[in-house]
Amino acid sequence: MAGSMKALRYHGQKDLRVDSVPIPELQSGQVKVKPEWCGICGTDLHEYIAGPILIPTAEKPHRLTGCSLPLIIGHEFAGEIVELGPGVEPRRLKVGMKVCIEPTLFDDNCPPCLDRRRNCCDKGGFFGLSGWGGGFSEYACLKEKVVHPLPDNVPTHIGALVEPLSVGWHALKASDHSPEQSALIVGAGPIGLAVLLCLIARGCRQILISEVSPQRIKHALDIAAACPEVEVIVLDPSKSDVVAKSKQLCSEGNQGPNVVYDCAGVQQSIETAIGAVRKGGTVCNVAVWEKNASISMNELVFGEKKIIGVATFREGDFQEVIDAISTGKIRNPEKLITAKVALENAVKDGFDALLKSREHVKILIHP
Ligand SMILES: NC(=O)c1ccc[n+]([C@@H]2O[C@H](COP(=O)([O-])OP(=O)(O)OC[C@H]3O[C@@H](n4cnc5c(N)ncnc54)[C@H](O)[C@@H]3O)[C@@H](O)[C@H]2O)c1
Ligand SMILES: [Zn+2]
Repeated sequence: MAGSMKALRYHGQKDLRVDSVPIPELQSGQVKVKPEWCGICGTDLHEYIAGPILIPTAEKPHRLTGCSLPLIIGHEFAGEIVELGPGVEPRRLKVGMKVCIEPTLFDDNCPPCLDRRRNCCDKGGFFGLSGWGGGFSEYACLKEKVVHPLPDNVPTHIGALVEPLSVGWHALKASDHSPEQSALIVGAGPIGLAVLLCLIARGCRQILISEVSPQRIKHALDIAAACPEVEVIVLDPSKSDVVAKSKQLCSEGNQGPNVVYDCAGVQQSIETAIGAVRKGGTVCNVAVWEKNASISMNELVFGEKKIIGVATFREGDFQEVIDAISTGKIRNPEKLITAKVALENAVKDGFDALLKSREHVKILIHP
């Protein structure tokens, strides 16, 4: 008998409950982790207010896990290893180690997986959204290869930020951003701010940010203030023409930024991104869209502008982000955390608080 544990489960729209569920059984090749901190992601919020969107239902169980709701959620987490399953040698991973979790679920044998794109797996999903468990719970069992040790100077509340930071890190790599290039971030929510921290870490010296919310503008300025050697300019699209301003600010003859990251995902943000990016530059779309946008194809044609999409992160990104935090290249990541909440209060002080105010960036839950 494995015993029971507390976990936050998604039962449907606006229906999250702290349930008592069986402790998951450790399978061969797996590691049992006790989550210490787990962040609430925009995707979790979306599921809460408008779902089930990605969360599988009884009519449509997940194609890899076969699971459907009610499901344990939470995919941005870090904690401690409490047990190694059969076949896991205590070498890279040991009991008592602090670790963070790469939540990608993948089949490891479809063409994208074999092409080292497990983030695009034909059957892919997320631990904490698609079944097999999640981070808002007392225990979670995971495949050895998605469990990443944290160095001593990276505590687990920072470890819980590795996931959203890896989204930013992957976006920078996918867009071929190089340090001497300027960048514009549209939307300074947790993801836009993660892109900001990664741009600073990777040596970018001129960063523009477009954001409509005064609270989020404050957070962006706060991060910028800790990095005086970087020119960070925050623009409010309700007060200034972001396209014209970015062309002016990113010099060499009003060319505009080399790369623009759309982290807002609305008609206005993608128009701004395509309009602002310099000729030959890249618009990197990080946002997930609620509906299709209409874009100026001729602006792309006559400016030879590129537009790419990026999904989560790939093999290697987690380790690079952990190293960048540990060596201080990603500076003050804790600035993303605006509250820490106990599991019992996750709905009221976590989900509902995030919906109420853009004052918050990342709320961590302590399971
Ligand atoms: N590609 C991926 O792997 C991945 C991973 C995680 C999240 N996402 C997506 O990234 C996006 C950002 O996530 P988030 O958690 O930061 O969301 P968020 O909603 O907290 O942040 C979006 C920000 O954009 C701002 N905004 C809205 N309209 C704007 C406009 N016209 N101009 C400038 N700013 C504007 C909002 O005020 C807000 O601060 C979401 O669409 C999310 O689903 C993608
Ligand atoms: Zn696959």
